[in-house]
Amino acid sequence: MSGFVEKPEPVEVPGLVHLHTGKVRELYQNAAGDLVMVASDRLSAYDWVLPTEIPDKGRVLTQLSLWWFDKLADLVPNHVISTELPEGAPADWAGRTLICKSLKMLPVECVARGYLTGSGLAEYQESRTVCGLALPEGLVDGSELPGPIFTPATKAEVGEHDENVSYEEVARQVGAETAAQLRQATLAVYGRARDIARDRGILLADTKFEFGFENDTLVLADEVLTPDSSRFWPADEWQPGRAQPSFDKQYVRDWLTSAESGWDRRSEQPPPPLPEHVVEATRAKYVEAYERLTGNTWS
Ligand SMILES: Nc1ncnc2c1ncn2[C@@H]1O[C@H](COP(=O)(O)OP(=O)(O)OP(=O)(O)O)[C@@H](O)[C@H]1O
Ligand SMILES: [Mg+2]
Repeated sequence: MSGFVEKPEPVEVPGLVHLHTGKVRELYQNAAGDLVMVASDRLSAYDWVLPTEIPDKGRVLTQLSLWWFDKLADLVPNHVISTELPEGAPADWAGRTLICKSLKMLPVECVARGYLTGSGLAEYQESRTVCGLALPEGLVDGSELPGPIFTPATKAEVGEHDENVSYEEVARQVGAETAAQLRQATLAVYGRARDIARDRGILLADTKFEFGFENDTLVLADEVLTPDSSRFWPADEWQPGRAQPSFDKQYVRDWLTSAESGWDRRSEQPPPPLPEHVVEATRAKYVEAYERLTGNTWS
């Protein structure tokens, strides 16, 4: 079982057509035909969208994405048109709403990895490969890879796992030329972001991008380099051979799998609401990621 514990009702705004409720974002179309992307405070873990929201998460993720888009603008065009609130939108959409180009999205999660963990580690332990790419012997959880690698995944529906696929499979799905462009752009953006994060004492272990086409131009879309789409590790605590502390929802995941939550991940039951201390600690992690990366104070 998985999906939404409680499916949210999208807000109706005159002049906007609601298109889709994503795990975290609500998508609308405005009268000009542009995409209105509203980031909620929802959080997903273990393929569930949890029944408890994390205050400010939508704004933190939106502001962090905007900061990165700006840092990356010379490498790849992005989908942001403006941050102006659509007329008639609720005031609480401010800071978490982006007007974006409506792109023809590619059905590929473009993942770059500089370190080994998560699904990459699981595949490595089986076969010494990640997405079919051969890796050296002796790597452990958290090891730095010899160089960053492109490890694409297919995009899953709500409640399904994304599945790692080979580069050849991506080329079959989107064509060889587009696959090459995706790999090139993903690794270029990862390299830039990794260097920026490292200067701020943060290791960018891995991250996921989504791209779409505007006519024939490949454009960086969705959110970028947030704690939801990336693994950020404090550099001074990095220690290969164990799970790394991180600036994301690890606190939630640890609590959900602890005895205190009373939840069995493998049961048919939806996860329970989060207690206040888990909400607060998670909000603090997201804010800390924003502040450390951007150097700005969250307000
Ligand atoms: N410029 C764009 N044009 C069209 N669709 C976009 C654009 N940018 C992002 N999207 C899509 O908007 C949705 C964002 O919402 P959200 O991330 O909540 O969705 P999701 O796909 O359910 O979750 P996840 O991506 O975490 O698996 C994604 O489906 C994404 O592919
Ligand atoms: Mg998404």
